[in-house]
Amino acid sequence: MLTVENLRVVYHDVISVLNGMSLEVRDGEILVIIGANGAGKTTLLRSIAGMIDFYDGDILEGDIKMDGVSIKGLDATDIMKRYNLTYVIEDRPIFWYLTMEENLGAASFSRWDSKVKTDIARVYEYFPVIKQLSNRKAGYASGGEQQMLAIGMALMTKPKVLLLDEPSLGLAPLITEELFNIIQRLNQSGITIMLVEQNAHAALQIGSRGYVMEMGRVVLDGQARELLNNEDVREFYLGSGKRERKSYKDAKRYKRRKRWL
Ligand SMILES: Nc1ncnc2c1ncn2[C@@H]1O[C@H](COP(=O)(O)OP(=O)(O)OP(=O)(O)O)[C@@H](O)[C@H]1O
Ligand SMILES: [Mg+2]
Repeated sequence: MLTVENLRVVYHDVISVLNGMSLEVRDGEILVIIGANGAGKTTLLRSIAGMIDFYDGDILEGDIKMDGVSIKGLDATDIMKRYNLTYVIEDRPIFWYLTMEENLGAASFSRWDSKVKTDIARVYEYFPVIKQLSNRKAGYASGGEQQMLAIGMALMTKPKVLLLDEPSLGLAPLITEELFNIIQRLNQSGITIMLVEQNAHAALQIGSRGYVMEMGRVVLDGQARELLNNEDVREFYLGSGKRERKSYKDAKRYKRRKRWL
């Protein structure tokens, strides 16, 4: 469905962040991307969603395709409208001074139809907490509620593909679990999901397949279950490997080993 082919992306003409990044997102799956801070996960999502220019980045090489057609260079609104691809950025993109419900209304700006109320009701089915707080200013909501609102706003655009950048950031474990259950239900309703996460364990549990990114490229990929059981993934991303406390030297060796995969 969505393919990223050998992508090379730099910021400010010099800072090279993606170095030959390739992946595919299959129709109907939850694809999980994990990787250390600075690996280039957010840059990848920005590139796919047509927002890289906004951050002073450029795609120098490679291509991004939806069903075989290049979407590289289209702007974010075009990509959202033509391909129903919606990107929820990491920083909880909500309007603080609007109420929860006004935020949902504002998010339907890209729509032509007048069924906004029906769609707000649908968002409330997924996120009852937003309904409870519908008249409260979004700025007063907790981190978890704001994240749910941000995803609710994305649903107002009727996405077929949803890109989520670390939705669990700063959330308590129970809220993360609730949020991930909802993400799974959204996927079951037919939305293909690309999920970037630091919380590798929770993400791989609901994911279909996963990629591990390091220094702007893929070092490992497989079925989510395989990755959950992979010894290196367990050690470096799940914190539950067999080995004793790892030294920096071990980490370097790991990186070298992975690059040859
Ligand atoms: N607008 C920008 N201008 C210059 N450098 C940037 C910009 N945005 C990101 N970078 C740099 O690109 C690298 C990759 O950043 P990116 O945000 O894609 O990583 P990430 O994998 O999402 O990390 P994290 O897990 O911390 O969110 C980092 O070194 C970062 O400092
Ligand atoms: Mg990031």
